[in-house]
Amino acid sequence: MPTDPATPSVLFVCLGNICRSPAAEAVFNTHLAAQGLTGRFFVDSAGTINHHAGGPADGRMRDASDARGHALTSIARQVTPADFGRFNLVVAMDHSNLDDLMNAGADPDRTRLLGTFLPDHDHDVDTPQDVPDPYYGGAQGFETVLDMLEAAAPTVLSALQNDF
Ligand code: 4NP
Repeated sequence: MPTDPATPSVLFVCLGNICRSPAAEAVFNTHLAAQGLTGRFFVDSAGTINHHAGGPADGRMRDASDARGHALTSIARQVTPADFGRFNLVVAMDHSNLDDLMNAGADPDRTRLLGTFLPDHDHDVDTPQDVPDPYYGGAQGFETVLDMLEAAAPTVLSALQNDF
């Protein structure tokens, strides 16, 4: 949980918190480190379900992330209503996650789809892309997730720095 209100905070959310959102957390932390901003933001991830809570991230996601230099160390947890008041920004991986968050009481002003941060997203015409769930698919799915997360990280940072 973010404890210092002066530290901007972001929570990445997917379904299980073992594939996409822990990778999003790790990729964003890598980006912060590359920008010399480690410790200046509070970064976390959570899932809309509790099925995997308390466990490590999926080994396939960990391996794919490690290969790109993203250390994926988070332990899964379920999102809670308290998160909605504490994080400056909540980033859902897909429309289903976003629906679940909204139904659970998320603040619409602070909750966005990851796809809105992709560099080629046109806010006037495009429906934001989902980060596809890689859980039941093959290895390429994990690479696609990482490609999207790496592409979006600089825009997520700008949004946090500029109060989106
Ligand atoms: P994630 O992937 O939402 O990216 O963590 C999944 C993890 C677990 C399940 C589905 C998707 N599951 O059905 O248990």
